[in-house]
Amino acid sequence: MTIHTAVSDRFELITVPRSRGVPSFAQDVARGLRSKPKRLPSKYFYDEVGSALFDTITRLPEYYLTRAETEILSQWGWQIVRVLDAPLDFVELGSGSAIKTRLLIGEALRVQPQLQYSPIDISTEAIRASSMALVESYSALSVRAYAGDYFDVLGSHALVSDRKMLAMFMGSNIGNYEPGEAKQLLALLGGALRAGDGLLLGADLKKDAATLELAYNDPTGVTAAFDRNLLARINRELDGAFELSNFTHVVRYDAARGAVDSFLEARERASVPIRSLGLRVPFAAGERIHTESSYKFTVEEIAALGRAAGFRPQAVWHDRAKRFSVQLLVKQ
Ligand code: AVI
Repeated sequence: MTIHTAVSDRFELITVPRSRGVPSFAQDVARGLRSKPKRLPSKYFYDEVGSALFDTITRLPEYYLTRAETEILSQWGWQIVRVLDAPLDFVELGSGSAIKTRLLIGEALRVQPQLQYSPIDISTEAIRASSMALVESYSALSVRAYAGDYFDVLGSHALVSDRKMLAMFMGSNIGNYEPGEAKQLLALLGGALRAGDGLLLGADLKKDAATLELAYNDPTGVTAAFDRNLLARINRELDGAFELSNFTHVVRYDAARGAVDSFLEARERASVPIRSLGLRVPFAAGERIHTESSYKFTVEEIAALGRAAGFRPQAVWHDRAKRFSVQLLVKQ
C-alpha cells in the first residue's frame, strides 16, 4: 500500500513500502562476509558519510564521469528535450538535486510552460530535501516524488502521468548493477512506460585500464575512504570492530567483463567480531572483500541493453573526449 503526502501544493511525496523478502543491511553483511570470496553490496556505501564522500568524488580530477556527463547535458540539453515531442514529464531514478537534473529541467521549461518531475529514491530525506529545493527554484515545476526501492516503485504501478514521459537514469548508475539485474531493472522501467516514452541513459564507456583504475583509486584517497566507510558503517551500526587501517582499497579493471572492481584487502590476518550479528569474521593476510563493480559499456552494448528491455535506440550524445555517453532509447 502506498502512502501519499501533499507536502505543498506543488510537491507530493508517495512512499512505497519495501516488498517482503528484501534483505536488511545486517542480513546482507552476515551473508556477504560468510561467503567465499567475501563481498558486500555497494548500495550500502550511501549513508550520510558515504553520500558526502561520493559528492567529493564527483569533483575529483581523476573521476571524469560527472564532469563528462555535465558537459554533454550543458551542450546538448536543448536538443535532448526536443527529440521527443513536448510536453514531457520527467521521471528520474535517483533524487536529482544535482546540476545535471537542473540543466534538463531548465531546458524543458523553455519549450513547455509546465513540467512534472518524478524522482524515485530510497532515501526519504534525500528526496524531500532535493524536491523542496527544486520547487523553490522553478515556479513552473511540480514534483511527484516516490520514496522507495527502484524495483518496488516501478513494480507498484504507482508511477502515473498524463503526458509523454522522459525517464532518466544518469551518472552511470546502471553500471553498478550486475548485467542480469540491469536488464531486469530496464525491463521493469519499460513496463512502467508507454510506447513513445523515452529513457535517457547516462553510461560510462570502455577505455584503457589506467584511466579507469585511476578514476576509482585517486591518489588523495577519497575513494579509499568511501570504500572503507562500508566497514566503518558495520562498526557503527552493527557493533563491529574492523580496524580500518588494516584494509587497503584495491581497484582492478577486468576487461573481459568490462568492469572496474573494488576490493578491501586485509594487510594482516585478523579475526573481526561483529557483535550485533553474533559473528566473528576471519581474514587471511591478503584476503579481499569485493565491494563494488562499475561496469563500462560500448554505445552498441547500451543499445542492446535497451533493445532487450523493449526500447529502440534513438540518439546518442558524447562529451568532446568521448569518455561518456548519454543515449536516448524510445519505448516501443
Ligand atoms: C554511483 N556510481 C555510478 C559510482 C561509479 O562510478 O560506479 C560510484 C563510485 N564508486 C567509486 N567511485 C564512484
